[in-house]
Amino acid sequence: MDERILIVDDEKDMLVLLKRIFKEKTNHIVETECNPLKVVELLRKHQFNIIITDLKMPKMDGIAILDMVKNIQPSAIVVIMTAYATIETAIEATRKGAFDYISKPFRKERILMTIDKAVKWQKLTQENIALKKSLQYKKESPPIIGSSPATLSIIKMIAQVAKSTATILISGESGTGKELAARAIHYHSDRKDKPFITINCTAMPEQIMESELFGHVKGSFTGAWKDKRGIVQEADQGTLFLDEIGDLNMVMQAKLLRLLQEGEYKPVGGLTTKQADIRFVVATNQDLKKLIEAKQFREDLYYRLNVINLHMPPLRDRKEDIPTLAHHFLKKFNSLNDKKISAIAPEAISALMSKSWPGNIRELENCIERGAILCQSDTINISDILPQEPVAHTSPIFDHSIYTLPFKEAKEIIIKTFHNKYINWILQQNNGNISRAAEQAELQRQYLHRLIKEENINTEIFK
Ligand SMILES: Nc1ncnc2c1ncn2[C@@H]1O[C@H](COP(=O)(O)OP(=O)(O)OP(=O)(O)O)[C@@H](O)[C@H]1O
Ligand SMILES: [Mg+2]
Repeated sequence: MDERILIVDDEKDMLVLLKRIFKEKTNHIVETECNPLKVVELLRKHQFNIIITDLKMPKMDGIAILDMVKNIQPSAIVVIMTAYATIETAIEATRKGAFDYISKPFRKERILMTIDKAVKWQKLTQENIALKKSLQYKKESPPIIGSSPATLSIIKMIAQVAKSTATILISGESGTGKELAARAIHYHSDRKDKPFITINCTAMPEQIMESELFGHVKGSFTGAWKDKRGIVQEADQGTLFLDEIGDLNMVMQAKLLRLLQEGEYKPVGGLTTKQADIRFVVATNQDLKKLIEAKQFREDLYYRLNVINLHMPPLRDRKEDIPTLAHHFLKKFNSLNDKKISAIAPEAISALMSKSWPGNIRELENCIERGAILCQSDTINISDILPQEPVAHTSPIFDHSIYTLPFKEAKEIIIKTFHNKYINWILQQNNGNISRAAEQAELQRQYLHRLIKEENINTEIFK
């Protein structure tokens, strides 16, 4: 981690010493300033992550520096250095928003540890801000597009279950619209004016996850320098969307179960239990039953979560939606890229329909985005969306010279050419995924695998 640190002290020796310590032990970029009056200018010019300042200096003291930082760079962290005699003031500074104080003289481990703690703390706060932003995300849900029987039944099911408070487990491959469905459930429920909060169970390390979810009390661990509200508290009265629930660790599974059953939780380091009224929607692209067998997921939690199951089918099973979705995304990217593309060529639509879309609707969305950017005319053509498409499938497999050969030999050549072209095509359609290609071609996987070997085709090039 290389952070940008500013050290302010009127004693030049101290600046030299600190700079040397950081240089030896860290990759942080350190700037020093012995004239506190110049700090304002520095703060206006550069963004710092951490400011270490002496407390007692002539002309301007550390508290004034702290105030200045809070004004100019509120996200920066301030650490105060102080002589024993002024510890009271340093404590006062932490009340005013300094992260910590270090009393002089100090050992180098002490300063390194404090800065390490500060860096970790800052990362946590940033994650929190990002989460809060996602909280304020649009006050309505984007539409669920499609008119295939599968999509219509999803829309119908959402309308039926949204008003209840039952927990919903949304399953489906990546990119099938699980998060979109979760939002739709929230915005069709009576909780729509309350928060909708998303938390991804994979993204966070175990300890951070607990404090993010349930909050913590001041002093409960290094870096917990003040009480913090958890997501559960933020989501009170609203909906909490737990994404990738299969990745939640066993300890957190037990705590979540308690919250689901009793509506109760305890902040990290807290003594009293708190109550929360939350509607849970959870999602997974893993097979939770398999995780239960492997003892990685609690069976009782599974049944508590799976009150209603909403399965999002893969796009290859609702291909009728492709044209509508493609036009929907075209409209979206027209407006995002300030373009006026009016149509998608029919050959491009049929090419889109013939792909198997392992990345599902997200992959289709990305493909149209690329098309909208590359398109030079008012129509998206096949070359805009599938530029790597071989023309081979439209050219004949053989020419008339084949008839000059004996029947058996001609047949062998044609079959071999056909195998080669067909396999290349089907693999390309499925991004080199042999199982999916076999499924689309209605072939046994082992058989397709043998053909790939015979034709000496490198599947990696399609990935
Ligand atoms: N039926 C649909 N209509 C319109 N847009 C859709 C539809 N389904 C999915 N999308 C869009 O496709 C993208 C992927 O959807 P989403 O993020 O909900 O999928 P996901 O199942 O949560 O994926 P992952 O498992 O990878 O997190 C989003 O931009 C979403 O808005
Ligand atoms: Mg998702």
